[in-house]
Amino acid sequence: MKNKLIAANWKMNLSAVQSAELFKQCASLAQTVPSDLIICPPATYLQMGNSMLESSGVHLGAQNVNQNLAGAYTGELSASMLKDCGCAFVIIGHSERRTQFNESDEIIAAKVKAAIENSLTPILCIGESENQRTLGLTNSFLTYQIDSALSLVDKTQMKNLVIAYEPIWAIGTNKTPSIAQIQQTMTTIVKHMYKKYGENFTDSSVHMLYGGSVSDTNCQAILSLDVVDGCLVGGASLNFEKFEKICQASV
Ligand code: G3H
Repeated sequence: MKNKLIAANWKMNLSAVQSAELFKQCASLAQTVPSDLIICPPATYLQMGNSMLESSGVHLGAQNVNQNLAGAYTGELSASMLKDCGCAFVIIGHSERRTQFNESDEIIAAKVKAAIENSLTPILCIGESENQRTLGLTNSFLTYQIDSALSLVDKTQMKNLVIAYEPIWAIGTNKTPSIAQIQQTMTTIVKHMYKKYGENFTDSSVHMLYGGSVSDTNCQAILSLDVVDGCLVGGASLNFEKFEKICQASV
């Protein structure tokens, strides 16, 4: 059985001083919990995270990557630059980037390709809107998002992949699907992955995360689902006491 994976997305939060404190606490937390931890800080704190998390076992992740390898892309960071900063993971397809930064399915597919080809594991975010759920379109939309995002990579390149199911309406809202809905939706995703990607989608290589208002109070129930390999945590990852409880629940 694989370890649970708890990924923290700090988004655009925290000062350098606060980040240093949280890196330190997470490095020590990793010694006491059996789950694998990934911290995705703002890009300006990646170098700090790389040195502070060194030999703690905590993985470093970026919140974004440019799909191009190099060139005149002012303000952007390439996959190889993120590797040079010590990143092993990168969040791709987060709904905040899809909606606020107009990232199309084509751009997301190109980012997944760039990440995989530079040995970064994508944390591919997918999720339906509230309206899509109401209309019964959740499953078809999620499978479409997966197929589109993976359209440029070969099946054999999918050995390292994390899929984070994040209903858009659950992000930062304190609303979550019911436990039964999470189980049902994520089971659909897994079945689709087996059907479409077959032997390349193995239990040991692809982690399925749930994200969206994960808290110290709902984490136990979510993480106890057999289809859930971990969580992508936003707001609660900024508070060490809450994050610690989430990591402890992931046994
Ligand atoms: O990347 C994290 C997700 O957007 C979840 O954020 O835990 O604040 O709802 P949240």
